[in-house]
Amino acid sequence: MRHTSEKGRVILVTGAAAGIGAAIAELAIARGHRVMLTDVDEEAALARARALGQRAAGHALDIRSPADWSKAFDAAEARFGAVDVLINNAGITHTGHARALRPEQHRDIVEINLLGTVTGVCAALERMTAQGHGHIINVCSMTSFLPLPGYATYCGTKHALRAFHHSVAIEERDGPLDFTIVHPPSTRTGMLAQEMADPSCAISFAEKSYAPEQIAEAVVDAVVTKPVEVVFPPFAGRLQRIAGVFPGLMRRVLPVAEARGRRQRDRLLSAQGFPASGN
Ligand SMILES: NC(=O)c1ccc[n+]([C@@H]2O[C@H](COP(=O)([O-])OP(=O)(O)OC[C@H]3O[C@@H](n4cnc5c(N)ncnc54)[C@H](O)[C@@H]3O)[C@@H](O)[C@H]2O)c1
Repeated sequence: MRHTSEKGRVILVTGAAAGIGAAIAELAIARGHRVMLTDVDEEAALARARALGQRAAGHALDIRSPADWSKAFDAAEARFGAVDVLINNAGITHTGHARALRPEQHRDIVEINLLGTVTGVCAALERMTAQGHGHIINVCSMTSFLPLPGYATYCGTKHALRAFHHSVAIEERDGPLDFTIVHPPSTRTGMLAQEMADPSCAISFAEKSYAPEQIAEAVVDAVVTKPVEVVFPPFAGRLQRIAGVFPGLMRRVLPVAEARGRRQRDRLLSAQGFPASGN
């Protein structure tokens, strides 16, 4: 196994019951690490952990709750020893244009994607600094570079998370911790299925989507290689970063991409036997 470290790390993964988090946990175990799978859906996290064997364990963790963070870190430590790596992966979206979302849906996205992740980073900073080492990996999104229609608040949280991440990494530059941020593009998980059901998210289908296992590979590689930032796809992802800097250009290009996404989405829906949307 190419990336197996001599001594497997102890890794705590959030949102590990499904999608990208579940793929990360599975690959990390296959590479010799020990993984505490956490999720707001405790039963699903425990079931995933049971299926992964002795080097996996499961625990409830709603990332919004400081008390849950404390208990999850304690549980990981009791089972495997000090947590070497935190993979902050949990996140949600509510689909729809900003004007269509209820105030509590906007709040929900901010409380989970931004404040929940911030709470986890702060919990990890304290514990990992005390133990003298640690690596914080935040799973963010390519939408942290490019504002997208259908994702206003979601993009807002991911822009903010990227800024938070790098600010903290700079603040902690003389300390013992490492920081990595990974930005998945459209990935075929429950989240993308939710987006497929809503034509306002058509832009997500403008480019090819990735399998969760491909994102997991980059994240689990990062446990060993510790890159500062990972974008997808490696080259086109860099172009998106540049486009995001020029709002005039963005406003002209994104409607074209959205129209392309609408056509691709309709093709995917017809291939699956669903009627194409008229929107
Ligand atoms: N799927 C994509 O297209 C895509 C693209 C870019 C970025 N991302 C990001 O990747 C991460 C994982 O997304 P995914 O596609 O695997 O999503 P998913 O919906 O498939 O899985 C998310 C998991 O997080 C859990 N979760 C939700 N709220 C939680 C909370 N408050 N506390 C703890 N766990 C919670 C869910 O129970 C679920 O198991 C998210 O941060 C998402 O924003 C996803």
